Amino acid sequence: MADLPTDDLKTLEAEGLAELAACTDEAQLRAWNSKFFGDKGAMKAAQAKLGSLPKDQKPAYGQEFNRVKVALESAYTAALAGKKEAALQASLTANPLDVTLPGRSRPRGRLHPATQILRQVYAIFADMGFQVYRTREVETEERNFDLLNMPAHHPARDMWDTFFTTTPGVVLRTHTSPGQIHVMRETCPKPVRVILPGMCYRNEAISTRSEIQFHQVEGLAIGEGITMADLKGTITAFARRMFGPDRQVRIRSSYFPFTEPSIEVDIDWPKDDPNRDRLTKGTGWLEIMGAGMVHPSVLRAGGYDPDRVTGFAFGMGPQRMLMLKHAIDDIRLFWQNDLRFLRQF
Ligand code: DAH
Repeated sequence: MADLPTDDLKTLEAEGLAELAACTDEAQLRAWNSKFFGDKGAMKAAQAKLGSLPKDQKPAYGQEFNRVKVALESAYTAALAGKKEAALQASLTANPLDVTLPGRSRPRGRLHPATQILRQVYAIFADMGFQVYRTREVETEERNFDLLNMPAHHPARDMWDTFFTTTPGVVLRTHTSPGQIHVMRETCPKPVRVILPGMCYRNEAISTRSEIQFHQVEGLAIGEGITMADLKGTITAFARRMFGPDRQVRIRSSYFPFTEPSIEVDIDWPKDDPNRDRLTKGTGWLEIMGAGMVHPSVLRAGGYDPDRVTGFAFGMGPQRMLMLKHAIDDIRLFWQNDLRFLRQF
C-alpha cells in the first residue's frame, strides 16, 4: 500500500532536517523554527490532518507525528546551541582574552603630608591629656585681635597681614589664637587643656617661605597654679617626641600681645645632618613655636579671674615642622597638589 499518511510525516522530517542543516546562522535557525513550529507552520498543519484521517489510521499517524516532532525539536535545540557556541568561539578568536595579563591595579590614595603631621601632633598632645578643639576659620576682628589684647591701631597688629572680608568686622583668621577665646568662654570656670588646630590665612606675597594659607596648632592650658615650668616641660616633651629623644630645647624671650611673659622656642638641630647649616642659618638652632603665659587681659576676656588662675599658650606651624623634618625648602609645595611631591610621604 503506497502513500500512507505517515509517509508524509517522514518526508516532512527529512525536509526539516535538511533545511535545518542548511541554516548558517541563528537568524536562519529562528526562521526555520517558525516555518516548522510556528502557528501557521508545517507541524501544525500535519497535526491538523489527524482529524481528517480514518479511525484505523489515527494511532499510527499520531505516534509517528510525535516521533517526528521530538526529532525535529531536538535537532533544532542542538543546532541553536551549536550556533551560539560557534558565535562565542568566533568572538573569542576575534578578541582574544589573555588571562595571563596582570590585572589593572587601582591607584591607592594616601594621607596628605599635612594631615599626617597634624595627626602626629594630636597623638603626642593626646598622651599629655590635651583635647582637640576646632574653631572657625572666619572670625570677628574682635576675637582675632581686640580680645587678644590688640585693640584697633595697636602696632602689634602689623605682625598679621590680614584678609578683611566685605562684611565689616569679619576677617579670615590670621592665627588660631582667637580659638582661645572660644574655648575659654565655653569652658569657664573649669580648667582648660586643649590644642586648637586649623587653617589660617594671611595676605602675603607667596614665596618659597610664605603662603597665604597654612595650618597652625594652638595650645592652651588654664588652671590654678600653672607656671612657666609647666609650659617648658610640655614643650620639651613635645619636641623630643616629634624630633627625637636627644633634642635640646632653648627658650628665648620674645613679645606677643596675648602672653606675658612671651617666649620663642628653638630646638637644636642634629650635627650630622647635611642640611643643618642651611636650615638653621648657621646657628644650629631652629625656632619651632611662639608661646608664653596667658596675658591677664586675655584670661579676663575669656571669663577667668587672673588672680585665681594662670595659664600657658603656644602656637606652632606644622608645615614648618614638616619642612624641618624632611628638609623641604619650598612651602608652596604643600598646596600645589603635585603628586610627584605628595607621593614621597
Ligand atoms: N598666634 C601667634 C602667631 O600666629 C603664635 C603664638 C604665639 C600663639 C604665642 C600663642 C602664643 O598662643 O602664646 O604668630
